[in-house]
Amino acid sequence: MNKAAALTPDTLPAPVMAGRDFLSNLDMSPAELRAVLDTAHSMKRGEWRGVKPLAGLSIALVFEKASLRTRTTFDVGMYQLGGHAITLSNTEIGLGTRERVSDVARNLERWVDAVMGRVYLQQTLNELAQHATIPVINGLSDMLHPAQLLADYQTIEDEFGTDLRGRRVVYIGDGNNLANSHIHMAILTGAQVTIVTPVGYEPNAGVLMDAVKHGTDITLTHDLSAIAGADVLYTDVWISMGQEAEADIRRRAFRGYQVTPEMLDTLAPHGIFLHCLPAHYGEETVPEATEHPKSRVFDQAENRLHAQKALMYHVMGAMTPRW
Ligand code: CP
Ligand code: NVA
Repeated sequence: MNKAAALTPDTLPAPVMAGRDFLSNLDMSPAELRAVLDTAHSMKRGEWRGVKPLAGLSIALVFEKASLRTRTTFDVGMYQLGGHAITLSNTEIGLGTRERVSDVARNLERWVDAVMGRVYLQQTLNELAQHATIPVINGLSDMLHPAQLLADYQTIEDEFGTDLRGRRVVYIGDGNNLANSHIHMAILTGAQVTIVTPVGYEPNAGVLMDAVKHGTDITLTHDLSAIAGADVLYTDVWISMGQEAEADIRRRAFRGYQVTPEMLDTLAPHGIFLHCLPAHYGEETVPEATEHPKSRVFDQAENRLHAQKALMYHVMGAMTPRW
């Protein structure tokens, strides 16, 4: 077995996102994405064991809504890199209700070195970033989930290598935050992204314009036959956090768009199935699909840890503790 080459404080890569916000995948250039994913792979190989590049630094994890993976991986990731994470739920801080978003930003920047926010509205993150002098990381909004996509593409690279030009990534389901971030990843990686949704649930028009501006072709269709031969099939819940009132109407609209083992059998022979989780079994998928030999969903969940550590390193790794 190959022994991982251990890094030392002198051989760490240069942070490529030093002090910058990560509100969207497009906040990174393709070269910066490459550096972050290389770091995530290196962390997964165990090459960072014992290195504490974020010692003395802190991050606030702000949650307006629930989380298992995002909360755990940013917190444990920060610990493994030598830093400290504090989790703040919205019942504690009341973003925009107990206190103005701008005031929350101007307080947090006095104590911590970065903020990760999981919010309802992308606008809340934009406002935090506008008013805070410290970097703000998007941990999911109604519009985007860019940190998730880092782990997703790490998982895709685990399978197919780093040159993803022309790889067929098919997203099926709701044209939501995950679908939007997939479009951004097509721009950055050259993967050939198809979004399959029911009528009326297409991705965000502004995000589709981003693809047009970058000259990236995205296939939008309502036709399930687009899945055949895909290298990657990806799905997400039909009812995102905050959309519970629309549950019945959505369940009806998405009927037929469920990922089943039979659907996975139509992928390319080497094709894989991804889901950001949590899964709403009986809706967008079934347990037999997440347990299918083509499923990589639990490797994908593991990669949240490596990818989020790599992201925090590249954003915070050039900072000096202020105390
Ligand atoms: N995929 C994801 O973001 O999971 P959580 O909602 O549990 O953080
Ligand atoms: N689209 C889902 C993703 C959960 C990780 C949501 O926003 O609830």
